[in-house]
Amino acid sequence: MYSIGANGSGAARSRKVTAPELGGRKVRHGARAISMVTAYDFTMARLVDEAGVDAVLVGDSLGMIVQGLANTLPVTLDEICYHGRAVARGLSHAHLVGDLPFMSYQASTTQAIESAGKLIKDGAYESVKLEGGIEVAESVRRIVLAGIPVVGHVGLTPQSVHAFGGFKVQGRGLDGAEKVLEGAHALEDAGAFAVVLEAIPPDLAARITRELSIPTIGIGAGPECDGQVLVCSDLLGMTRGHSPKFAKRFAELGDAVVSAMKAYVTEVEAGTFPGLEHAYKANGGHVVAAPVAPAESPSPDLCH
Ligand code: KIV
Repeated sequence: MYSIGANGSGAARSRKVTAPELGGRKVRHGARAISMVTAYDFTMARLVDEAGVDAVLVGDSLGMIVQGLANTLPVTLDEICYHGRAVARGLSHAHLVGDLPFMSYQASTTQAIESAGKLIKDGAYESVKLEGGIEVAESVRRIVLAGIPVVGHVGLTPQSVHAFGGFKVQGRGLDGAEKVLEGAHALEDAGAFAVVLEAIPPDLAARITRELSIPTIGIGAGPECDGQVLVCSDLLGMTRGHSPKFAKRFAELGDAVVSAMKAYVTEVEAGTFPGLEHAYKANGGHVVAAPVAPAESPSPDLCH
């Protein structure tokens, strides 16, 4: 069992959250909803772990959030591994999920198993996530058989941005809804322990959540999922410009960063930072005046 902080939720919890444990978290069976968030570095990982989130995803969204790209497509397996190792060092409680990036699993089931294995071996991940429904079900089955827990992802799968013609809500109309529903079922049948539902109508998400026995983790999929996931910089209010409707800002850290930086610049320019309280203890009377070296002989500090 967890040791839960005095406020009962959201506090730091001891012991690592495992994939089988997350896989049993169905809200309709009385389980606590899963909280998942993305993180890409050690400092953020340590903070979200301290807050008590259940799972951290190193998403290929790092292409947009960390690298400033227009989409996730150029992100590589090595980059996901690099960020995974950093994030893993910051987690003592949260489960760590790594995204399989574009073209690291679509070519064949063999490629999918090898890429998933690399995330576990080189990226320090505890499970992997990949995008797609029926078309990736066989790969999911093989990865799971290899002993690697898998999270599925259906609805708006950003690696298909060009096929969708943009980042658009999916699952609309009878055919659209059927495709997402079938995909989610295929992932469960293949052995995924959870499935992310991204940018689909809330009634469709509710139906999938009812029909599946594994938990659904929503992002822009309404309240009736077994958990929620958000991109950390969205929820912290650090992203500038357009952000999706579902990305609630729980803080305005972007503004806080800008005003702290402005204060720093002002104090540096005014000479008020650093003050004595941010300086080391003075050397007092032991400060020796810099020797004035005779022109013809070099300073003794420069020759050994
Ligand atoms: O890459 C990512 O961060 C994701 C989440 C938004 C689900 O896939």
